[in-house]
Amino acid sequence: MVSYRSVALTTLLATLQPRSMFAFTPVASSAARRTALLRGASSIYSISSTARFMSTTDTAEEEKAAPTVIPNPEAYEKLKMEELVSLCKRRGFIFPSSEIYNGMAGFYDYGPLGAELKKNIKDAWWKHFVHGREDVEGLDSSIIHNPTTWKSSGHLDGFSDPMVDCKETKLRFRADQLFYAPVVLKESGERVGYVLVQEANDEDMMKDAKKQAKKLLKGTDNKGAEIEAFAFRDLTEATEEEMSEIPSPASGKPTLTMPRDFNLMFQTNVGAMSDEASVAYLRPETAQGIFINFKNAMGTSRAKIPFGIAQIGKAFRNEITPRNFIFRSREFEQMEVEYFIPPGDDVWEPFHKQWMEDSKDFLTSLGLREDLMGWDVHEGDGLAHYARACTDITFRFPFGVQELMGIAARGNFDLTQHSEGSGKNLDYFCDATKEKYIPHCIEPSLGVDRLFLALICSAYAEDEVGGEKRNYLSFSPKIAPVKVSVLPLLKNKEPLVKAARELYDKLRKRWNVSWDATGAIGRRYRRADEVGTPFCVTIDFDTIEKDGSVTVRDRDTTEQIRIPMEEVIPYLSKQIDGY
Ligand code: GAP
Repeated sequence: MVSYRSVALTTLLATLQPRSMFAFTPVASSAARRTALLRGASSIYSISSTARFMSTTDTAEEEKAAPTVIPNPEAYEKLKMEELVSLCKRRGFIFPSSEIYNGMAGFYDYGPLGAELKKNIKDAWWKHFVHGREDVEGLDSSIIHNPTTWKSSGHLDGFSDPMVDCKETKLRFRADQLFYAPVVLKESGERVGYVLVQEANDEDMMKDAKKQAKKLLKGTDNKGAEIEAFAFRDLTEATEEEMSEIPSPASGKPTLTMPRDFNLMFQTNVGAMSDEASVAYLRPETAQGIFINFKNAMGTSRAKIPFGIAQIGKAFRNEITPRNFIFRSREFEQMEVEYFIPPGDDVWEPFHKQWMEDSKDFLTSLGLREDLMGWDVHEGDGLAHYARACTDITFRFPFGVQELMGIAARGNFDLTQHSEGSGKNLDYFCDATKEKYIPHCIEPSLGVDRLFLALICSAYAEDEVGGEKRNYLSFSPKIAPVKVSVLPLLKNKEPLVKAARELYDKLRKRWNVSWDATGAIGRRYRRADEVGTPFCVTIDFDTIEKDGSVTVRDRDTTEQIRIPMEEVIPYLSKQIDGY
């Protein structure tokens, strides 16, 4: 079957080449020397001097040309985090930070492909929310602010997580990520102890709890007895009496302290003296840099409310238990907008809704799988005291459904706090209504690294091409770290290499392009597929001896088309940039 994608390609090519349609057809090569190189993998296409052009009407031939691609829709369901972490390391997306010194928990380094992907994510966000809107301007504030900023914002007093220590092993845990339950015998109702499990998906938590309960009953008269269903509570709710029986996840004995607050801000000292007056903090969010620049940014851009200020930058949190790879790390990047709106009970809701929709549209425009996304509306205790509403966009990671980003209606809490803390007037004067007010704001806040992880998960794909299993990343061309790979058919044929090099140099002026001249062509395709390169352009003997045409291979369908060399850039432009 000719897939939907190949129809799209065909349509586009028809525009590029109104008279004759060029498509690739697989025919047995007479030149064994060349075809041998092409047999590196299952999608054996004979890109040889015997390949011929065919007309647009020759669809039967074209269908025959397509290798059998059998997608595996279950691939993501079976994907384990260890496999993802290993792929990221192996192909240069993400390395553990300072690995040669045994790493540093909660910190990661982005390799050559990771740096590209991260940059593409940030560029796409900036393009969408700053350049793409007339009512948003950008900002790049310093990471270290005057420490009073954090007093006013409430971070110094309240930006903490509940922590417990294991007195025996000295390990620390986040109390709200540990869940305990009494083990109660069904027959007698007697409580024989407690289990304690770390937050995970329901299945894993249950498995762990059952294992612990079994161990607890083993060697007692109750061995094998039936127990009540576990009633989990998070550890912040444990009483001192319960804590004296709850086992530590590290020692297996009741050696945990009672929970206490742990401030997540990283402290540093500014200047030569290391005294109290020199204490400063690495910002735990980019948002406060926006609030403290509200007057400057509004004034200089002569903006009128509603108006947003956007910022991308590093944030630091001394997470007690960084985990799940880059999902929760200690150093990460945020992309945040503070969108200032007039006050009023009936004003914020449509703006909040609009930012929720726009955030979702942005995420799907990057190729994020909609079927893995969801909404989580915060209510009651889940809502900060000053916030009117907060809705998260969630994503189903291999370790469960988790927050990807938040869209909050924050009222005017932050500007009011900074106005009081600094003694500066942060009112806005509305020319139209002659009203003076402290604006309220909507805050869409998204982590670059968390989105990076979600995009890799979304893109993870497996299929079978011509009978062989293939793993690849189906990144949207918009964010793919490498857009095109240029492959000269043979690396030791000077005219082939020269022609390929010329094309490569031209393409590099527009996109990040890779050059791959070694190994069988099939193996080279696999290498490109595994890192999510959407297009491979192969320069073969027809290119240099016959008609100057090249083949362009599509990563997802593995289909190949033949187009004239001069059409490569317009064709790829349309595919990658959409114009
Ligand atoms: N200004 C609001 C704010 O910072 P948040 O929910 O704490 O809100 C917003 O963070 C987003 O930043 C999260 O939805 C997530 O994408 C990202 N994020 C937060 N903590 C993170 C961490 N430790 N590691 C990676 N990303 C994080």
